[in-house]
Amino acid sequence: MAKAAVLHRYGEPLSIEELDLASPKRGEVKVKMKAAGLCHSDWHVVQGQLPLPLPIVLGHEGAGIVEEVGEGVTSVKQGDHVVLNWVPSCGTCSYCRTGRPDLCEEAARLMATGTLPDGTTRFSLHGKPVYQFLTAGAFSEYTIVPEQAAIPIRRDVPFELAALISCSVMTGVGAAIHTAQVRPGSTVAVIGAGGVGFNIIQGAALAGAKQIIAVDIVEEKLAMTKTFGATHTVNAREDDAVSAVLDLTDGIGVDYAFEAIGRPETMADAYNMTRKAGTTVIVGIAAPHEAVEINAFSLPSQSKALTGSWLGQGNPPIDYPKLLDLYAAGKLKLEPLISAVYSLDQINDGFAALKSGQNIRGIIRF
Ligand code: APR
Ligand code: ZN
Ligand code: ZN
Repeated sequence: MAKAAVLHRYGEPLSIEELDLASPKRGEVKVKMKAAGLCHSDWHVVQGQLPLPLPIVLGHEGAGIVEEVGEGVTSVKQGDHVVLNWVPSCGTCSYCRTGRPDLCEEAARLMATGTLPDGTTRFSLHGKPVYQFLTAGAFSEYTIVPEQAAIPIRRDVPFELAALISCSVMTGVGAAIHTAQVRPGSTVAVIGAGGVGFNIIQGAALAGAKQIIAVDIVEEKLAMTKTFGATHTVNAREDDAVSAVLDLTDGIGVDYAFEAIGRPETMADAYNMTRKAGTTVIVGIAAPHEAVEINAFSLPSQSKALTGSWLGQGNPPIDYPKLLDLYAAGKLKLEPLISAVYSLDQINDGFAALKSGQNIRGIIRF
């Protein structure tokens, strides 16, 4: 049995249920969850923007302890501390073989099926399957994931902080460092200062950007972006974000602009505030039917690079431990990313806070 937060119908609150949990099969790992972050991607699913089979256990940003391993598991053992990797790459598809495990075809398939690799799930309720988001199903006391989804980590980092590495830190820092490859002395704008946006800001600061402009609509969070390296802030409720960023860059625009909300309008804003030959990186996830309107003539005449970033273009078995080492060396801030801690029973309060934009990150402590 495992107590878990289950989404039964889009748009409804999650319900806390005692689910049946099978044993880990070959190549699978049972994890006792210790902490899980509330990410906007989970909220996209609740709202029906990312259609998935229901009922489903959401949650993909998490950390815990290995409780049991299935046959043939070699990379982790009982008692190991692990961070969940929500893109458990197969190692054999064309993307994995060419150094892009973030785009693994098998992991993308599992995102759509809401299952483990064999097409089934280990959670059930009254004999019916309950799916698991991104193979993780992190909003549960226990979960069972493929071996590749449980990345062993150092033991001296508290679980709540380690959990952040799983999505917001990897996605944000990775978008700045891997995807944009922000150069020292460059100019940066980040639209959306949530869990992901704050980490884009600290990734750009780590890379030595000289000007980092944070754009959001919540003044308290904008003020906090300064401690993560932002040099300027723009409140998009009061000012037009594109004009404000152009004003701050002598009318030129920034070298790198990031969108970390998931709205087509702000994606176009990010493109429009990028200088000629600069780079626009889309990190936010819009619904599958949405489109972004971009001036067609600008595409050749302004020669901007327009790209996206998934999981911060990371390779979790290598990057999660590295990011935790950066934290231990005092180079990454994790504690101030956590605005509120909730019990699993309070998860809907956590999502209400996410919806209002008041938290940087809300965390479930098990
Ligand atoms: N202009 C500027 N900022 C906005 C606007 C807007 N119109 N609308 C919302 N925001 C801000 C919110 O105030 C919040 O601070 O965007 C931020 C979004 O942050 P979170 O809700 O914490 O989202 P996060 O978990 O960081 O994810 C951001 O990245 O990985 C994807 O699926 C994820 O699409 C989501 C995005
Ligand atoms: Zn693959
Ligand atoms: Zn996430």
